Formats: sequence, C-alpha cells, structure tokens
Amino acid sequence: MGSYALPRRSLVLFLLAAAAVASTAAWAASSSSAGGGDDAARRSLLDNGLGRTPQMGWNSWNHFGCNINENTIRSTGYIAADPKKFPSGIKALADYVHSKGLKLGIYSSAGTRTCSKTMPGSLGYEDIDAKTFASWGVDYLKYDNCNSDGSSETVRFPKMSFALRKTGRPIFYSICEWGQRNVATWGGQYGNSWRTTGDINDSWASMLSNIDSNDASASYAKPGGWNDPDMLEVGNGGMTNDEYVVHISLWAIAKAPLIIGCDVRSISRETLEILSNPEVIAINQGPLSQQRTAVLLLNRGATGSRQITAAWQDIGVGPGVAVEAKNVWLHATAPGRFTGSLTAEVAAHLCKLFVLTPVGRAGEERS
Ligand SMILES: *[C@@H]1O[C@H](CO)[C@@H](O)[C@H](O)[C@H]1NC(C)=O
Repeated sequence: MGSYALPRRSLVLFLLAAAAVASTAAWAASSSSAGGGDDAARRSLLDNGLGRTPQMGWNSWNHFGCNINENTIRSTGYIAADPKKFPSGIKALADYVHSKGLKLGIYSSAGTRTCSKTMPGSLGYEDIDAKTFASWGVDYLKYDNCNSDGSSETVRFPKMSFALRKTGRPIFYSICEWGQRNVATWGGQYGNSWRTTGDINDSWASMLSNIDSNDASASYAKPGGWNDPDMLEVGNGGMTNDEYVVHISLWAIAKAPLIIGCDVRSISRETLEILSNPEVIAINQGPLSQQRTAVLLLNRGATGSRQITAAWQDIGVGPGVAVEAKNVWLHATAPGRFTGSLTAEVAAHLCKLFVLTPVGRAGEERS
C-alpha cells in the first residue's frame, strides 16, 4: 500500500481558498441564533475549527477545466497541480501560495477516479491521501462523488472526514456529493460545507435552479458547516453583468461559499467590481452588527420591472421597528425610513440588495 502512494500522486486539480479559516470571534456574535446544542454535538465529531464563515477563494474548474498547470496558477496568483504539470511539486506550490497569505485547496473524489477520469480518486486510500495532502501543506479538500463503487455517500464521505482529522492538520473539508442522500442533514457532522445541488453551468436557469434547491436546506447552514450551491460563474460570459449581480447577491445572502470561477488574469473592471463589493461580502461573511438585516428583492421575470415588497414579518424584523435601508449595489442609503415593509422597483433579471439598520420604533423618534 505504501508504495502505491507514489504513482497515485499524479492526482489533482486545485483550488485556492483564501478565507477558509475565519475568525472565531465573528461566530460568537451569531451563535445565539445557530442552535447551540446541535452545533456542539456536531463539532464533537468534526472539530476542525474551520469554516466559521463561508469559504472564499478561487477555483480553476469553471474556466479552465482540466487544462491547468503550474504557470496558470502562479500567473493568476493562485494554485493548481500535478507533478508533470507542476514540476516543482505541490509542497513548493503550497509554500508559494502561503507566502502570498493565501491557502491552498486540492481536489479528489470518493471513487476510483476523479470525474474527468484522468486522475486517481481516493476511495480505499483515504488515510494515505489525507496524509499526503497534509504533508504538502494543503488547507482545503474538495471531495467529489464520481466513479464510486456504488456504496453509500454516507459511508464514503465520512471516511475521508476521519482520515483528514487523523492527520492533525486542520483541512477544510468540502463535501461534493451533489445534494444526494439529504446531505444537509448529516454533512455538518463531517464536513465544513456540502454541495446541495448538481453542477452549476454559466446560465441564468442553472444559477436560479441551484440556489432554489439550496434554499430547501437553508436551516442547516451554520458556522462550521455551510450549504454549497456550487461555485460562481461570474465573469465567464454566459450571463449579463446584471445577472451576475443577481448570482453573487443570492450566494452572499444564502451564506454560500464565494469561490470565483473565472480567469482572474484577464478579469474585466465590471467583473472585478461585481466580485469585490465589500458590502456584499460583509453580508456573506457576517454576522451583521447592530441587529442589521440583509434583504434581497429579486425580479425573475425576463421583461418589465416590478414593485417588490419585503414585509417585516417575513424577514424577521420586529413589527414596529423603523429602519434605514442601504442599497449595497448603489452604495447609497434610500431616502427616508421604513416601518413594516420595504418596497422597491426591480428591473427584469435583476435584484436589489439592502442592509436594513434599525433606527428606532415607529413614532418613537418624535415622542
Ligand atoms: C445548464 O443547466 C440548466 C438548468 O439546470 C439545464 O437546463 C441546461 O441543460 C444546462 N446546460 C448545459 C450546457 O449543461
């Protein structure tokens, strides 16, 4: 078995998770709403301290597929690997990535081969591969579900979780079993995130379909374990910029991983603006302080604008609470204050994303 580790080392395809390890302090503030008892039980199994907020980073797959090498990664400022394509080795690449203040992610499958069928998977070699990843300095594993032996996801995915923990290195474990077997109900015992859906593609229909499926599992997302409706297609060209605004807004408010999937070497100014809006990222990486609430109004229609209303009882704001509404894509606070509900006009295939800040109770300010 030991000798098998070497040839199999031609593994890989890589992703980089920048903020996979986030602050425990941030979580403390939101833990009251996160079902403390459940969480404690779950973490007694997982217990790797990672994913206190949804992971952020870049992954080569959505743009490059298998066509990656060391230069792609170094020239993006990000990562990828395979000894032929990565002659310096993954350890060296990990050192390089770490020297940039970033973290390195790797990919494998709970099967005999990865999905492309060009790389070996980790089924039956969980301990060896986990040890190898740890020895390279890998910080994140995305673990796919291709080419299995037909045994259950609920057996194959926990195996890698235990193997990763045995290494002693905190490695963010991204379960990718495509939302089968009610993964949201058990994923948090073993992983820091779990895919709730099949693969996204660069279209409006796919993007909405994935976030709609993901929404069914919303109540399972919490610090340490997140629903994953798949990576971002922003910047890959299949949607309009307005649609990409909707894409990242939905991912942000759903506390989904924000993993960039475009070619960051040739990123346009517009795409960069969509991906780097600090107020949108703050919604995703929250909690929002001062009892603020984020609300997204989405017009799914293909033509015509619509008036859309968010009522306080539907978004968890107290009945008499008056708020100010900051439109985070306009970077502007809407005129006046709102009590009971917020209504805005939203163009077709677009959304408005607001952060509401309580400013008192109705009538109170004049009493
Ligand atoms: C993209 O996803 C949509 C919705 O799931 C699906 O209807 C469509 O066939 C997919 N397109 C491709 C090219 O896979």
